[in-house]
Amino acid sequence: MEQNKDILILGIESSCDETAASVVKNGREILSDIIASQADFHEQYGGVVPELASRMHVDAIYPCIDSALKEAGVTLEQIDGIAVTYGPGLVGALLVGLSAAKGLCASTGKPLIGVNHLHGHICANYLCFPELEPEFLCLCVSGGNTQIVHVKSYTELEILGKTRDDAAGEAIDKIARVIGLGYPGGPKMDKAGQGGDTGAYEFAGSHMKDTLDFSFSGIKTNALNIINQAKQKGETIDIKDFTASYQHHIANILVNNTVKASEQTGIKTICLAGGVSANSFLRKAFDEASVSHDLKLYYPNLRLCTDNAAMIASAGYFEYLKGRRDELSLNASPSLKLGR
Ligand code: KG4
Repeated sequence: MEQNKDILILGIESSCDETAASVVKNGREILSDIIASQADFHEQYGGVVPELASRMHVDAIYPCIDSALKEAGVTLEQIDGIAVTYGPGLVGALLVGLSAAKGLCASTGKPLIGVNHLHGHICANYLCFPELEPEFLCLCVSGGNTQIVHVKSYTELEILGKTRDDAAGEAIDKIARVIGLGYPGGPKMDKAGQGGDTGAYEFAGSHMKDTLDFSFSGIKTNALNIINQAKQKGETIDIKDFTASYQHHIANILVNNTVKASEQTGIKTICLAGGVSANSFLRKAFDEASVSHDLKLYYPNLRLCTDNAAMIASAGYFEYLKGRRDELSLNASPSLKLGR
């Protein structure tokens, strides 16, 4: 994919509790990457409070955009297109980024490019690995989604398998809260399980045969039962071993279906994407599977696994090249699906 002139895309992200803006050159080179996280603020509530998140986005959005342009050393005039997450996510939060992007497009005449947040997560891999090109399989694991995606081209995506109930991130966050690790649960559980015995506790299988779909609600209930039964008997669970076993179990389920998808499609290049792909148990399980199944494995660096705007600018670049231009009437789409 080559063109004569460098293309600069301003990316804007505000789907949950991170306000972010970034300038990316030609879809691959990060010129700036500004993130204002609200995670510390929401910790006191044990999770993201949507209305408060929206208000904090309002305060942070223009300073983030200004900083992103300044750090990249470019003016708005030099930007070729403005890419913004329009779903999935919290509707109020999405509307803040989207309104800012639309305002900038209206005042400058720059094209507006709506980006699916999950497409952005996949594109985080292009920012980390210059040599990576479609096609490949991508396991997208975030707080609200768990999907195996066939990335056929930079903009053509097909879902091969998805969770039928909870996302893997939800299953981890919920149990982290119940055992008192607090919010955000994913990174805290990851830390709590370091050095733990991954075979100390046993969890139910996911009982999903002949499909690449996932189910995590039964496993989560199983974990809750183990915790409650221990409480009733006046026993305590060993947090280090319990969290290590639980994360190892979830990681194996994610690996098994991804390997199955690779065998079914014959595609040997696998990428990970989304916040849960930062999980060390998941990375270790995939590292092992890549050796035993001869897979070429990619996962983004930790900063680009979680929400950021560079990945949105990258996805926006590929959509821009494909000719996507959105009207200023583009609305937030909280339940937006991939592969639309
Ligand atoms: O992709 P992301 O930043 O936001 C969504 O688009 O959902 O993902 C957030 C999820 C949360 O569930 C968070 O707990 C999880 O990613 N997460 C982790 C880790 N870091 C973030 N989960 C497990 N281990 C981690 N190290």
